[in-house]
Amino acid sequence: DLLQEIQRLEELFTVDQTKLKAITKHFVSELAKGLSVEGGSIPMNPTWCMSFPTGDETGTFLALDMGGTNLRVCEIILTDEKSEFDIIQSKYRMPEELKTGDADELWEYIADCLQQFIESHHGEEQFEKLSLGFTFSYPATQDYIDHGVLQRWTKGFDIAGVEGHNVVPMFEAALAKRGVPIKLTALINDTTGTLIASAYTDTAMKIGCIFGTGCNAAYMEDVKSIPKLAHMNLPPDMPMAINCEWGAFDNEHKILPRTPYDIIIDKDSPRPGQQAFEKMIAGLYLGELLRLVLVDLHDNKDVHIFEGQNIDKLRKAYTLDSSFLSLIEEDPFENLSETRDLFHNKLSIAADHSELELIRRLAELIGTRSARLSACGVAAIATKKGYETCHVGADGSVFNKYPHFKARGAQALREILDWPAKKNAKDPDPIEILPAEDGSGVGAALIAALTLKRAKEGN
Ligand code: BG6
Ligand code: GLC
Repeated sequence: DLLQEIQRLEELFTVDQTKLKAITKHFVSELAKGLSVEGGSIPMNPTWCMSFPTGDETGTFLALDMGGTNLRVCEIILTDEKSEFDIIQSKYRMPEELKTGDADELWEYIADCLQQFIESHHGEEQFEKLSLGFTFSYPATQDYIDHGVLQRWTKGFDIAGVEGHNVVPMFEAALAKRGVPIKLTALINDTTGTLIASAYTDTAMKIGCIFGTGCNAAYMEDVKSIPKLAHMNLPPDMPMAINCEWGAFDNEHKILPRTPYDIIIDKDSPRPGQQAFEKMIAGLYLGELLRLVLVDLHDNKDVHIFEGQNIDKLRKAYTLDSSFLSLIEEDPFENLSETRDLFHNKLSIAADHSELELIRRLAELIGTRSARLSACGVAAIATKKGYETCHVGADGSVFNKYPHFKARGAQALREILDWPAKKNAKDPDPIEILPAEDGSGVGAALIAALTLKRAKEGN
């Protein structure tokens, strides 16, 4: 019966304290492996962002944010007041077809948005080329800061002809075709932007994380701890922001407790074998996990769920997104009437009370697993760096909107790092994950400013 099924799902999806600790331990060694000459599955990409901001940066910058959900263009003025800025921004929808379409169409669309932005905010006004920070949130190998070879698409993108290529000339060609007066100064990742923007207003911020469509983190490493950069003879104590691309953690399936549903998600994705960690926790996959479990239960003749109903709508892959799970977890009513309405309106399924209870528990299990596994990554970076206390800046739809994500993550950190009991319930945790400043806007502008400053100083 359904209660038995709930128990089975609890066993499949629960990650207990012992397992969290084992995952974190392996994570720490994988972070180091990614920095080694041989490399590992976590890319640990040097970003050529080599300092934290001081708060004294000034100037006007454009920022372009190509994340996963939206395309955003911002103009940021870093003012003379310490750590203060003004920002204007426009959001453009990222058409679904573009994500699996043609490379030219992608760059043309981005250039069109930038052109529109400039025309609407600057009109015919003549000005020197504006300096742009481009937040391109995919794994890229960078030899310098205005260069980036796409290692592979993630987050369901699949556009031919970009992987293995430097994306900057493609982007610049589309701008040049339109005569858009922009100079790309820095290509950055959303996590690096988040790290730098957060540190701008809070010097205790040591790690930048995204918990959104994808999941990833960046932190500042010392050059002497990056053996794969040894051949460049950089000063050993020079800081270098590392974009971990931790979504690729455990691609070799040594430690993560994958369920049969995780295996299906991977197999049916455009890049099987990639992003093992991300596929278990990121927003893009949470609704799909719920969907796969429900379809499996319906098709299992021993489990009587949605019996005799037409579940065709539920059979469509990626039909549920993480906001669907959020709504289920947020349903305030004892009888789960909002969840019942959701299933009725979106999927034409009439769910009875015991089915609704299973759905709610399943959403909790998937959401909790996501938060707990995410905490392993944070704990691993803190452990590697020896941070006993610090702030972690976080952004993304899951962090900002998914119910209980923050509290579940904090609870998992506590279990992994064995913090002593608090004297006062209001005392902060030694390591706190806090909402970040706008990384792809302010962070991109700051990194562009820091890059120009370094260029001026001649290094
Ligand atoms: C946004 C940042 O707030 O969060 C983006 O500006 C980032 O740079 C994004 O990519 C991640 O969240 P999501 O949910 O849109 O993937
Ligand atoms: C994916 C991308 C990574 C990005 C993250 C969050 O993991 O590969 O670059 O930081 O999503 O957007």
